[in-house]
Amino acid sequence: RTVYVNGKYVPENEASVSIFDRAFLFADAVYEVTSVLEGKLIDFHGHMTRLERSIRELGINFTVDSDALLAIHRELISKNNITEGLVYLQVSRGAASDRDFMFPASDVEPGLVLFTQAKSLIKSAAADRGLKVASFPDQRWRRCDIKTVQLLYSSLVKNEAAKKGADDAWLVLDGKVTEGSSNNAYIVDENNTIITRELSNDILHGITRKAILQCAAELDLKVEERAFTIAEAQKAKEAFITSASSFVYPVVEIDDVKIGEGTPGPIAKRLREIYIEANL
Ligand code: PDD
Repeated sequence: RTVYVNGKYVPENEASVSIFDRAFLFADAVYEVTSVLEGKLIDFHGHMTRLERSIRELGINFTVDSDALLAIHRELISKNNITEGLVYLQVSRGAASDRDFMFPASDVEPGLVLFTQAKSLIKSAAADRGLKVASFPDQRWRRCDIKTVQLLYSSLVKNEAAKKGADDAWLVLDGKVTEGSSNNAYIVDENNTIITRELSNDILHGITRKAILQCAAELDLKVEERAFTIAEAQKAKEAFITSASSFVYPVVEIDDVKIGEGTPGPIAKRLREIYIEANL
């Protein structure tokens, strides 16, 4: 693979960053993951707008130049022959001359890293089968609206979920589901109303979430943006998740309780289909 590191395209085994990079020492970096279908980026501008906000919230000295970043994304897609997959972009506050909790002086260059991941997004065993999820307390920091690389807790619970035979983790704060380990969470009630937590600092404002809620409106499905409990989810007709790397995956089991028939629900399937159609 060719990757991009601070102005250069290099083979992945030749790429390097400083051990004093604050991404490495303090998780002081933000990122975006944008999906690619038929070689084309999905919702690129939405991802860049969110990147800009993450950078602003943390006061990182990096100007988001969408055109320049688009050119790098496209160059990597082309160099690595990506027809279906993901582009990962990370902006770090940069490498200070030593480890220091204080931010470095403003002349320290921020770090920019991008790489591609080939992945089959349309054909997906997880989409066909549906996911089993297990719930865990949401013990992340309380600024989940900022897309930082501080992903240790999410990674930990995903591994704990796997130990329980589940595919992913749903996080619970004050008795209500916030989101999945790396995706937004939804349920469908008996009136076919889609329920998903309202936007706040407790969840990432998913780019796919926004697109899927638009798809739901086109299908004349009602949407309620509010928090729900695991018990409510277990009694729901359907459940599903969304993210750039999954689009829509049905959820068929929560904490060992089957959702509906225990098979992917028609609304999740339909939303997945129209989202993919809209982006082909
Ligand atoms: N994750 N919530 C969290 C905590 C996430 O990490 C993500 C994305 C989402 C969905 O956001 P979007 O629809 O914009 O992808 C929600 C990416 C894909 C990742 O970490 O790989």
